[in-house]
Amino acid sequence: MRIYDIIDKKRHGLKLSRAEIEFVISSYMKNETADYQVASLLMAICINSMDEEETSDLTRAMIESGEVLDLSCLGEHTVDKHSTGGIGDKTTLIVAPIVASLGCTVAKMSGRGLGFTGGTVDKLESIDGFKTELEPNEFLDMAREAGLVVVGQSANLVPADKKLYALRDVTATIESIPLIASSIMSKKIASGSKSIVLDVKVGSGAFMKTVEGAKALAQAMIKIGKSFDRRVTCVISDMNVPLGYAVGNSVELWEAIEVLSGRGEYNLYQLCLTVSSSMVSSCLNIDYNEAKARVIDAILSGKALAKFYEWIEKQGGDVSKIQPSSKLLSAKFKREIISESDGYISSLDAQKIGVASMSLGAGRVRKEDKIDHLAGIILNKSYGDYIKRGEVIATMYASNESLFDDASKIFTEAISLSENEPEKKALIYEIIK
Ligand code: URA
Repeated sequence: MRIYDIIDKKRHGLKLSRAEIEFVISSYMKNETADYQVASLLMAICINSMDEEETSDLTRAMIESGEVLDLSCLGEHTVDKHSTGGIGDKTTLIVAPIVASLGCTVAKMSGRGLGFTGGTVDKLESIDGFKTELEPNEFLDMAREAGLVVVGQSANLVPADKKLYALRDVTATIESIPLIASSIMSKKIASGSKSIVLDVKVGSGAFMKTVEGAKALAQAMIKIGKSFDRRVTCVISDMNVPLGYAVGNSVELWEAIEVLSGRGEYNLYQLCLTVSSSMVSSCLNIDYNEAKARVIDAILSGKALAKFYEWIEKQGGDVSKIQPSSKLLSAKFKREIISESDGYISSLDAQKIGVASMSLGAGRVRKEDKIDHLAGIILNKSYGDYIKRGEVIATMYASNESLFDDASKIFTEAISLSENEPEKKALIYEIIK
């Protein structure tokens, strides 16, 4: 087999066989195929796409490039979730303890964030002592005992994705549905859970900009899931404005505890309700409305919050400073952003707010950058709210005062005010199975 012929075949829009796809991935992992050849093939895939069978074959070849987690010892009720990424997205911190308190098992590997804000693992590391690296037996024991464990993604989980993603990132080949779907699903399938709920984001703060695009991605991921005997549910949700009021790491943890305590911002609460009900429904094989009733009860009864603290303590975290009544853990310096006029907030650009938070130290520009867990932004007002001149729109937190000038400039560009109340936006567009 020659890589040249495979590139040429896809350039002419022809279907690749499973053997050809396996050859590309295995020879690339052995460094027998060069970056420029794989980059050409990726571009041909971007232009001519791949069908369902090719996408599933690519997913399989990627999974086989590394280790696969066997969660069969945890029984049938394992469930995982994934969000395609958004600003202020702390849903895992909320939905994982909710569903674990209802008899589902979450044994999860989670990524670190690159770019605007930290990932779930970064948010968890803002808790003193919390261990995000565990030995395989510790990982499984914790899942068995608490029904919930979250660690950083192992370097050997789908190594082919790491190599391919790095190449796609610099060759304008990220935006291809079969490539995105196989990248996400290879990691989810290799992580071992039987049920998978994917929160597919749409909007300015997401990489899918249209609902149609997000639906097509969702369908592709559901089909891959079926071919691997996994139950996949996709929630298509809005990411034009940040999710909730907090953007950063320790500030997002604080907001997650608020929601688990039955408080918290409406949109964030609604999304968490939808995602956790979908997880419980799929995992326990019960009707969605029955699952939703159980989820609401878990929050109102305090069961979900108790599970959250049990989990954090089991993974070594010091829970004394993160009680619902504790003082917010935040950086030393703060600056308020004050509105210069009256009006309704008619735009609150998620992406720009993410950049402002990153410039305060809450996100990484490069993989090796250190994150400031205590930096971030807490919004005082959100999309559609009325604000008066002189009122505080948001408070920024940083460990270095010199970071405020740039961050407030970026933040101010993210906000527009209007005389008339703006149209309400949908939060959940669709749930697809
Ligand atoms: N997230 C992933 O894991 N892979 C992609 O290709 C895009 C988003």
